[in-house]
Amino acid sequence: MRIGPYELSAPLFLSPLAGYTNLPMRLTVRELGGLGWATTDLVNARSLIERNHTALKLVESCPEDRPLAIQLFGSVPEEMRDAALICEQLGAQSVDINMGCPVKKVVKIGGGSAMMTELDKTAALVRGMIAAVKIPVTAKMRLGWDDDNQTAPDLVRVLEDAGVAAIFVHGRTRAQGFSGTVNLTGIRAVVQAAKSIPVIGNGDVTTPEAAKHMIEQTGCTGVSIGRGAFYDPWIFRRTDHYLRTGELLPEPALEERLRVMRRHFERYCEFYGEENGAKHFRKVAPWYAKRFGPSKPFKARIITMKSRADFEAAVTEFLHWRRQFCDESGVLKPQYAPGALVASFMRDPDDPVFARESIPVPKGPVDTW
Ligand SMILES: Cc1cc2nc3c(=O)[nH]c(=O)nc-3n(C[C@H](O)[C@H](O)[C@H](O)COP(=O)(O)O)c2cc1C
Repeated sequence: MRIGPYELSAPLFLSPLAGYTNLPMRLTVRELGGLGWATTDLVNARSLIERNHTALKLVESCPEDRPLAIQLFGSVPEEMRDAALICEQLGAQSVDINMGCPVKKVVKIGGGSAMMTELDKTAALVRGMIAAVKIPVTAKMRLGWDDDNQTAPDLVRVLEDAGVAAIFVHGRTRAQGFSGTVNLTGIRAVVQAAKSIPVIGNGDVTTPEAAKHMIEQTGCTGVSIGRGAFYDPWIFRRTDHYLRTGELLPEPALEERLRVMRRHFERYCEFYGEENGAKHFRKVAPWYAKRFGPSKPFKARIITMKSRADFEAAVTEFLHWRRQFCDESGVLKPQYAPGALVASFMRDPDDPVFARESIPVPKGPVDTW
């Protein structure tokens, strides 16, 4: 598939997850293969213009981190235009506009999902950005504000006319937050509204089978995966292979999981500095651990780590402790092995191992987020 002038190696996208899809994560996932395109966390357009330190950290990248879209949020046309120009100067392949974020801080300034309620105003803002840059501009949205206002298909028509190069759609409304399951019928309506630009479906994809199911049910051109990439950073490679061949590759063994976790951790240390990197990685390591089998003491050690030495000590102690659950050849006895990953649409929603809430999402009524 293509986005503007770019031919993608795979129709698979890393969805932005603020606080998580930083440079270390993107590089780690890219190296495993199968990822066609990645997007930064959302960045406040004004902060980028002001060269705010946090904003600059969010857009930090390197030549291996390609193709890359920078996601902007904001509602002031001039600021969005100027920030788009900065993205282009920084070498991004594309600018993505956040039209889906339900969080108060974003919506109250007219950004995020508030943009889905004022189509003309949004189209004018988008036209200004497209006129200012040569790189493609894309938009990421939800299905609409709430069930009674599923404006995504109308918005897509307006945005395609304005010159947007692709649409990403998370199959939930703003009012839904992260509750319920993704609405594939809603995504299909968005796909049908687009004349020729690609529509990328998003929501609840945690296995190769779920990605294929989304494509078959909605006709979307590509699939974007957020939380599923944290349960399983290999998901892009496995999904790409599955879409091409119909064959499901085995899940990685413990040695491979440890190798990739160490690499991810080292990148955190390089990116944030050792102590901050180790502290930030406290919320990443438990995802890897989910697929280790019994790992309680490891998770307990990790939450206090402050250095490379602490991290390595936690891994070493864990491997020693884990032996009690293994047979003579070092393989986990079947009763302790983690269950196979199950596609979201085939999954028992009460199964705690695969509960989507494992990655913290805002809770309670959406108006209070
Ligand atoms: C913690 C968290 C942070 C998120 N941050 C962003 C963001 O910065 N920009 C954005 O467009 N969507 C953001 N999202 C939404 C995701 O990109 C995605 O649309 C949503 O999680 C559904 O996809 P998934 O089920 O594959 O995770 C975020 C979601 C979560 C859970």
